Amino acid sequence: MPHRQTALITGASAGIGATYADRLARRGYDLVLVARDGSRLAALADRLAGETGRRIDVLRADLTDRTQLARVEERLADDPAIALLVNNAGLSLDGTVATAPAVDIERLIALNVTAPTLLAAAAARAFAPRGTGTIVNIASVLALAPELFDAGYSATKAFVLTLSQGLAAEIGGKGVHVQAVLPGATRTEIWERSGKDVNALPAEILMEVGDLVDAALAGLDRGETVTIPPLHDDTGWQAMQRERLALAPLLSRREVAPRYRTSAG
Ligand SMILES: NC(=O)c1ccc[n+]([C@@H]2O[C@H](COP(=O)([O-])OP(=O)(O)OC[C@H]3O[C@@H](n4cnc5c(N)ncnc54)[C@H](OP(=O)(O)O)[C@@H]3O)[C@@H](O)[C@H]2O)c1
Repeated sequence: MPHRQTALITGASAGIGATYADRLARRGYDLVLVARDGSRLAALADRLAGETGRRIDVLRADLTDRTQLARVEERLADDPAIALLVNNAGLSLDGTVATAPAVDIERLIALNVTAPTLLAAAAARAFAPRGTGTIVNIASVLALAPELFDAGYSATKAFVLTLSQGLAAEIGGKGVHVQAVLPGATRTEIWERSGKDVNALPAEILMEVGDLVDAALAGLDRGETVTIPPLHDDTGWQAMQRERLALAPLLSRREVAPRYRTSAG
C-alpha cells in the first residue's frame, strides 16, 4: 500500500471479523474494530497493535441500534483514511422465521440487512468521489440455497448478495470495488449463539475460519465480485451468472407472456 490505509470491520470481536482484523493488520492496514463487546475488542486491538505496529481503534456499537449505527456511518463519512469496509457483523435465528418471536426477526433484519446496507451506502458516498475504495460484504452460500436452512437468515444473505452485485454495477466504474463473500458452514460462535451445536455438523462440510478468510482475501486479490470459498468447481456458478445476465434484457415487456394470457384477453 502506498499510503497507510484503514479498514473498518464490523463484528470484529469474534469469528470471521476478528480473523479479518488479524489478516488485514498483517497486510499493513490500520483498523477500526466495531462490535458490542468492548473488552474483547480492546484485547484484540492491544494484541494486534503489539504484533503489527498498526494503529487499531475500537468503536463500540450495537448495530441494531439506529443511533449507534449512525456513529459508524459518521466514522465512514468523516475519516478519509478508511479505504476498506468489511460488512461482517451478522446473526442467525434461534429457530426459524416461522417459529421465532417477531422481536428476534426484527433484530435479524436490523443487523443482517439494515446495518450493512446503510454502512455500504456511507462507504459508497465516501469512496466514489475519491475514485478508490473497497466494500466487502459477508453474505452466505445460503443466498443460493435457501432450502438448506432458515428462510429468514437465507433471505438476509440473498439481500446482501444482490446488494453487492447491484452496487458493483453502480460504483465499480467509479473505482470502488465491491465483493460479496459467500462462506459455507464455518467454525465460529454464530452456531452456539443461535442454539446450535457446530460439532454436530459433518466435519467434511465445516471450514476453519482462518481458511475462510484467507480464501476470501485471495478472491479479493483476484478482483472477484463474488467469492465462494468452499465451491471447488465453479462451472455451475459461472453458468448461472451467464444465464442470469442473459435474462436481463428479456424481463420487462409490454405484452404478457403467452402462458399467462387468459382466454378472455
Ligand atoms: N460461521 C458461519 O458458518 C457463517 C456462514 C456464512 C456466513 N456467515 C456470516 O459471517 C458473518 C460473521 O459471522 P461469524 O460466523 O463470524 O459469527 P460470530 O462468531 O458469532 O461473530 C459475530 C460478530 O458480530 C458481532 N455482533 C453480533 N451482534 C451484533 C450487534 N448487534 N452489533 C454489532 N456487532 C454485533 C459479534 O460481536 P459482539 O457480540 O461483541 O457484538 C461478533 O463480533 C455473519 O454475517 C454471518 O452471517 C457465517
